[in-house]
Amino acid sequence: MTFIEVAGNVATGAYVVAALLFILSLAGLSRHETSRRGVSFGIVGMVIALAATVLLTLAGAWGQPHAALGLILLVVAVAVGGAIGLWRARVVEMTGMPELIALLHSFVGLAAVLVGWNGALHDDGLTGALRDIHHAEVFIGVFIGAVTFTGSIVAFLKLSGRVASKPLMLPGKNALNLGALVVFVALTVWYVITPALWLLIVVTVIALLLGLHLVASIGGGDMPVVISMLNSYSGWAAAAAGFLLNNDLLIVTGALVGSSGAYLSYIMCKAMNRSFISVIAGGFGIAAPSSSEEEQGEYHETDAAAVAELLRSASSVIITPGFGMATAQAQHPVADLTAKLRERGVEVRFGIHPVAGRLPGHMNVLLAEAKVPYDIVLELDEINDDFPSTDVVLVIGANDTVNPAAAEEPGSPIAGMPVLHVWEAENVIVFKRSMASGYAGVANPLFWRDNTRMLFGDAKERVEDILKAL
Ligand code: TAP
Repeated sequence: MTFIEVAGNVATGAYVVAALLFILSLAGLSRHETSRRGVSFGIVGMVIALAATVLLTLAGAWGQPHAALGLILLVVAVAVGGAIGLWRARVVEMTGMPELIALLHSFVGLAAVLVGWNGALHDDGLTGALRDIHHAEVFIGVFIGAVTFTGSIVAFLKLSGRVASKPLMLPGKNALNLGALVVFVALTVWYVITPALWLLIVVTVIALLLGLHLVASIGGGDMPVVISMLNSYSGWAAAAAGFLLNNDLLIVTGALVGSSGAYLSYIMCKAMNRSFISVIAGGFGIAAPSSSEEEQGEYHETDAAAVAELLRSASSVIITPGFGMATAQAQHPVADLTAKLRERGVEVRFGIHPVAGRLPGHMNVLLAEAKVPYDIVLELDEINDDFPSTDVVLVIGANDTVNPAAAEEPGSPIAGMPVLHVWEAENVIVFKRSMASGYAGVANPLFWRDNTRMLFGDAKERVEDILKAL
């Protein structure tokens, strides 16, 4: 067997192992307890994949002119890319994660465009149906890649505050997006029949503009869904590049990223009771109606000492954190309060809404950072039936995710959104700074309920006050 054949066989085996490790990694990442193991599987899989790809490249270049130059370029690219990646990963703040991810997605998109163009410019002697398939792959790969590229750059600029997060409202924006898709389908058919280079130039420009427009017209609050959508696009772009490069692992990995990103977008949309189309079309939270405060009557205020007293006599407590806990950075005192209450024999659990905060898993990451034990952090479905038997619920900086209007008022803009039924508990303490509404801009009748007490002020300061009083 020649070196090239041996390398090919080793790489095929390594790719199967790496693909399995990526699947195990995704499975591990879906639960707190196994997430570290999931990350480790992913790292090992990626190291194996990289090593096998370098081996394949080595074998391909063996004995060829300029092989040494190619190898030097490969080593330099891996070293520079790896160093920048390591540095960014070390210095990035948890809050800067979404924008970093957006920027990384743009690289995947750009790579897919370059691979597509390379595939178009090199005639590899295909004929008949195989040639047509190759042209379709080039065209689709360039399109998805270019949309991902500019879309991710706009997402990065918006998330990092370099451009305003306000949605761009061009007249007939949905017709523009739809029109671009129709033109793309028509041009694909044309390109497969007559693969003229100008068609590829036109589709690249249309896709670049579409990506720009698609993300620019979405409001800042919908960015998490957009990020997971771009994540999905970058996966499909990588899969398209895999077909062009004849690389099975890239196809498998791209499909894994593409489908998991699409599923995450679906979960987020379902948890917000919105259709994916309405997120893409934008508009939510821009002009959501909000009923006036006077209609609701009187609310009851409380203070830290009274809440400490209430907690002292409680036997079961549920904490439902939201975006306000993240802005106040209250997770550490919340963890201390949890530990203190548990020491006294109080059963303390956390109820996490799937879209609490502004990112999937936002609350879970904050609580894990503050070392709250995983087994008391429960999801909405796991805890929602337990509120009637709970003495005290602490709503810490959450609003829309605990709004009874979603369950009780069919006319509410958030009607049908699954929410934590906190109002069914005996006592509800709401930590927030004012009577303002949450992200959706919808008034929350919870604040005016007889069993609700409002604890005004910064969540971190108020939890520290309760700790002192305890
Ligand atoms: P929100 O409904 O946004 O409410 C957050 C609350 O925190 C506000 O009522 C605010 O009231 C309070 N707050 C802010 N800073 C505070 C501080 N320093 N101390 C105390 N309270 C503070 O939060 P939520 O319940 O977590 O719901 C999340 C919302 O985001 C949902 O509408 C969801 O659809 C949306 N969303 C989520 C995601 C994901 S993936 N998580 C993605 C897109 C959209 P004050 O201003 O009065 O203090």
